[in-house]
Amino acid sequence: MSEIHRLGVLTSGGDCAGLNAAIRAVVHRAIYTYGWTVYGIREANMGLMSRPLDYQELTLDLFQGNLLRMGGTILGTTNKGDPFAFPMPDGTTKDRSQEFIEGFHMLGLDALVVIGGDGSLMILDKLCQQGGLAMVGIPKTIDNDVNQTEFAIGFSTAIHVVVEALDRLQPTASSHHRVMILEVMGRDAGHIALSGGIAGGADVILVPEIPYSLDGIVAKIEEVRREGRRHALVVVAEGCKTADGTPLTVTWAGKQARYGGIGYYLSEKLAERIDTEVRVTALGHVQRGGQPTAQDRLLASSFGVHAVDLVAAGKFGRMVAWQDRGVVDVPISSVVGGSRLVDPDDAVVHTARGLGIYVGGDNTVPVKQSA
Ligand code: F6P
Repeated sequence: MSEIHRLGVLTSGGDCAGLNAAIRAVVHRAIYTYGWTVYGIREANMGLMSRPLDYQELTLDLFQGNLLRMGGTILGTTNKGDPFAFPMPDGTTKDRSQEFIEGFHMLGLDALVVIGGDGSLMILDKLCQQGGLAMVGIPKTIDNDVNQTEFAIGFSTAIHVVVEALDRLQPTASSHHRVMILEVMGRDAGHIALSGGIAGGADVILVPEIPYSLDGIVAKIEEVRREGRRHALVVVAEGCKTADGTPLTVTWAGKQARYGGIGYYLSEKLAERIDTEVRVTALGHVQRGGQPTAQDRLLASSFGVHAVDLVAAGKFGRMVAWQDRGVVDVPISSVVGGSRLVDPDDAVVHTARGLGIYVGGDNTVPVKQSA
């Protein structure tokens, strides 16, 4: 057992639904069970690098019971500002890692719970190792690509939004006899597209992990038409490349490149080959907002309680994870350094193919032999 009195908690990386539910669970467990004082660090690692420090004490009466239901993160977050290569106004980068370590000690923290994706967990783990700081991680990301965990906080809500979008697109697609393309987030992972597309009744689902052909998409749309339906739903993950393998990005102000554009690329290519009208919806950040689903609230609550128990047991350098219908914990070192992508042989891909959805690759459906 470790001697803990003051626990810090921060959210890092892109936000998602369920972060506040995780913060609430950490606060409840730490105060009700262990009697600790909890401090919320603002703006991810920035709060401990700022002078004065940027933090707030988190108490049980926080937000009058509303925290579980709220989207976003009350602590703020950032997916920029790596302390090891912090971007300076003159365009150079500076190593500010020591400021974070000093900030941890200035606040008198005994341990830190970090709620982040694999990128954030990697950076925070490196910082904590450098300073000999006690840390436990909780995985979150709508992309659901953190290694070692079947689910990360935010994924359930994101696919719920995708399904709702498809539920709204289908009636208008049907009324106008159109092909509707829905571009969804996920970076290099196709989990959102695959799960959201199956649950939302897509005819075509394209993910970065499985190559596709324009011929394959056209063949599926023609097949649907032969069956008597004059509209189709196509879900494409933002990280998909063009049919000839070119990555697509959109450059925003400040010269920052983001995934985007594959939906419009596909619409142009399909319009050349089919006589059905094609329209595009790029779902974007609505996938990250809104109230968390029941599943995300449950996951966040389970993760928060287990993370605090790890701190109490002095088990640091570990991340909580969901495996085989329960919460476990794994070394953070086994999580970082790569993402959990869609396995083309996965049962979910098999389900999609079994439903007749075009997912690229060899679209035949091997029949599973029972033992
Ligand atoms: O990693 C989460 C995610 O929402 C990705 O799916 C998406 O590509 C990216 O973040 C968007 O980042 P930003 O909020 O910086 O635009």
